[in-house]
Amino acid sequence: MTVRSRIAGTGMGVPSRVVTNADLTQWMDTSEEWIEQRTGIRERRWIEPGQKPSDLAREATLQALADAELEVRDLDCILLATLSAEHDFPGTSFFLHEAIDAGEIPCIDLRAQCSGFLYGLQMADALIVAGRYRRVLVVGCEVHSTGLDISTAGRDVTVIFGDGAGAVVLEAVDEAAGTGVLSVRLHAEGKHARRLWLEAPSSAAPQRVCQEMIDDRRIYPSMDGRFVFKHAVTRMPEVLMETLDAASVKLDEVDLFLFHQANLRINEAVAQKLEIPASKLMNNIQRLGNCSAGALPILLAEASREGRLEKGQLVSLTAFGSGFTWGSALLRWG
Ligand code: COA
Repeated sequence: MTVRSRIAGTGMGVPSRVVTNADLTQWMDTSEEWIEQRTGIRERRWIEPGQKPSDLAREATLQALADAELEVRDLDCILLATLSAEHDFPGTSFFLHEAIDAGEIPCIDLRAQCSGFLYGLQMADALIVAGRYRRVLVVGCEVHSTGLDISTAGRDVTVIFGDGAGAVVLEAVDEAAGTGVLSVRLHAEGKHARRLWLEAPSSAAPQRVCQEMIDDRRIYPSMDGRFVFKHAVTRMPEVLMETLDAASVKLDEVDLFLFHQANLRINEAVAQKLEIPASKLMNNIQRLGNCSAGALPILLAEASREGRLEKGQLVSLTAFGSGFTWGSALLRWG
């Protein structure tokens, strides 16, 4: 039988601590209006002291397994995408592996920032289609809050990010069923790596961590926001259409469009460019901020719980992020 991969279950894990725009105004020179007008964000979730990225990933994983009516022992491999590693090494996937007691199955960390989930989806799909594995867990997980500059100097970046993880179980299905991953297209442009990055700690520095890095605030992410914005609103429609063309699907045949949650204005601009009606869009950035690699799988989990995903529907997922990276996937749900 010819095999495809399908999403058998979705899950999400977000901290319970809500940080509102009003909360941020206590720590930096910003306003509730500025943040909401420029980004659409009203609040985000940040972890409590003691919580770890792998705690969020574990919650998302257990939900995804329950949704798929599967157990940890049914998994063959774990792919975890993150830009906010729990430790420098080993990868966060190993701490998730421990947290869910995954026996001896392999686990892999993927570093493709906000496009990380789609990079993971393509890798997992390829492993399943090649017959290497039957079920692969794909997780996007971020804890940004412990690495942000919570002062006026970091306000452009800090107001955007939230903590959260999402997970899906991808499993082999007979192509004849017609469901599953129809196409995925990924891109990168490393020449823009420094437009949105975290410079330190750095193995390219004489000493990976030093006081000077801290004093110069190089330990906080920095971003050329306008440059990122312009590229995102160009690349996202491009790759979305490329993915539909690869599957010979027309834009108006797609039932639901899920976009990376970096800025509501970016998503509105993409939707406007492609003339996608609001009824076919879903956003949660207003409540969760930008959870980078976690954003798309969290959105999928919410879409599933809200009954927005029906068997046979076409779902398009698109992301853009640091690297630069961008990508899109088209799925037939079910
Ligand atoms: N509160 C108040 N003022 C702020 C602020 C904040 N949180 N952040 C920046 N500003 C100020 C700037 O200092 C600047 O002031 P100045 O004009 O006196 O110099 C002014 O607001 C405009 O800054 P600018 O960066 O040009 O704003 P912008 O309209 O581009 O909006 C972003 C900033 C970050 C919201 C926007 O560029 C963006 O969303 N970019 C894409 C980000 C993204 O997608 N990142 C993740 C990709 S995965």
